[in-house]
This record gives sequence, C-alpha cells and structure tokens, in this order.
Amino acid sequence: MPLDWGMIDRYAKSLIKEAGHRIRLSFAREIHIDTKADANDLVTDIDREIEQFFISRIRRDFPDHRILGEEGFGDQVESSEGVIWILDPIDGTMNFVHQKRNFAISLGIYADGAGMLGYIYDVMADDFYHAFRDGGAYRNDERLPQLEPTPLNEAIIGVNASWVCPNRYVDHERIARLVNECRGTRSYGSAAIELAHVAAGRLDAYMSMRLAPWDIAGGSVIVGEVGAVTTDLRGMENDMITKGTFIAARPGLHETILKDYIDLKI
Ligand code: IPD
Ligand code: CA
Ligand code: CA
Repeated sequence: MPLDWGMIDRYAKSLIKEAGHRIRLSFAREIHIDTKADANDLVTDIDREIEQFFISRIRRDFPDHRILGEEGFGDQVESSEGVIWILDPIDGTMNFVHQKRNFAISLGIYADGAGMLGYIYDVMADDFYHAFRDGGAYRNDERLPQLEPTPLNEAIIGVNASWVCPNRYVDHERIARLVNECRGTRSYGSAAIELAHVAAGRLDAYMSMRLAPWDIAGGSVIVGEVGAVTTDLRGMENDMITKGTFIAARPGLHETILKDYIDLKI
C-alpha cells in the first residue's frame, strides 16, 4: 500500500507540538545535565526523555519505519533504505541549558534517502516551520517565498566564530576573509534555527564543519523547498547517515562561498 504522506505529516506535526509542550513543562523541574564527547557537549535528561517520547510513539504507530535519533534510543541506521525519521529532540542544548530559549526540535522524514517531510519547531518562540517535498515550505502555515540570489557583499552568513580560529577542518584564514567580505555574520547556536533563518531569508547562508544528520535532516527539506542549495563543503550531497561538513545558501552564493572561501583540510 502506498504511504499516506498527508497522514504522516499531520501525525508528525501533532507529535512535535506535544513534545514542545513537554519541554516547556520541564522548566518547572530540576534539569539534570551531563556531558558527552567533551565538557562543552551537553545533554540533559529532557533531551533523552523527549527522544524516548518520539520513539515510543513512532514505533507503536509505524512499526516498519526506522528512527535515527541523536541520543541513541532509535535504530542503528547504516543504510538509507525505507522510511527513516531523523530526529534531534533538542537542537541547541547549550542554549536550552543556559538561555532557556533558542533551541528547536528538528525532524526530517526520509524515504529511500529522499527528504519527504521536514520540521523545525523553535519551541520558546512558538515558530513552527515545515515543508513537504514539492509542496513548499511554511512558517506557522504561511508559505515562505522562493529565495532570490544575493551578492556576498550584501549577505549575512551564519558561521560559528570557532571556524575563524585555527582548526583541523578548514583553512581558517579563508573563512576570516569571508567574514570580512560579507555584510555580516551571525551565530545562533542551533543548526536547526539557523536553517529556519535561511528558509525565511533572514540568513543568506549557513555553514558548519561538523554536523550530524539529525542537525540538518529537517532543515534541509525546508530550505530546499525555497530554493536554497544544500551540500557538504566539497559540493556533494549530504547522505543523512554520517556526520560531515554542511552548507545551505541562496543559489549563486553557495557557489561563490565554495569556490572562493573554502579550503578543506579533511
Ligand atoms: C549542536 C547545535 C550547534 C552546532 C553543533 C550541534 P546540539 O546541536 O546545532 O549549533 O554548532 O555542531 O551539535 O548538540 O545542541 O543538539
Ligand atoms: Ca543538534
Ligand atoms: Ca540535540
């Protein structure tokens, strides 16, 4: 039987809204904070609880779909076959812990590697972005217009200051030149929120040297629907299974940044 994507879309939206409600309620409790890869890589019991909430519902209602979640409660996903829900229960955990805002739920639903549905929910702003393949992208149900090209000297680039410091991924001096030659830079601390800004035309590009599928799965579907170009920093398609480099940008600007400002060391 063919999949009913309209039904899956309605289901995913209501799940995300309920998860957002649960996150807001969690502020009344004491939050337990742990670290993962290093002292600044934070995770809380709420990240884990929200992921488990999604997984228990998806497994109950879509038993033959797989789930790739940041906190590891989902499936071991090594191929892109079938339907895969790619979830970051809280993108921007450092913001969640320190600021209680500027974090988002990010979800992308992929079928045989193709992004079918994408969602970013900025929980505290109550801004809900969604897109379905070939159906356009929306912010709070208002359709987002197509992105027009913008020259670099008029562009605002989403880039984290750490890439302007010496690092093992990219020639930082070229990134410093990019920072000097664009109109301005911003860094919001949540890849999903930065992608929502690209979709809405508030950022002209967003790039990072190390993102995971759950950081970009939802946002890639959304920005793709308004005409942004998304690739890794070699210009290849991101596979949504492995971590890697990433850029989303207005057409034209994407090419300029890759050609003139990126020199990868990896
Ligand atoms: C992080 C955020 C951050 C990005 C990091 C991600 P998390 O996700 O998206 O903006 O720079 O690479 O890991 O850990 O808060 O879900
Ligand atoms: Ca993330
Ligand atoms: Ca996360």
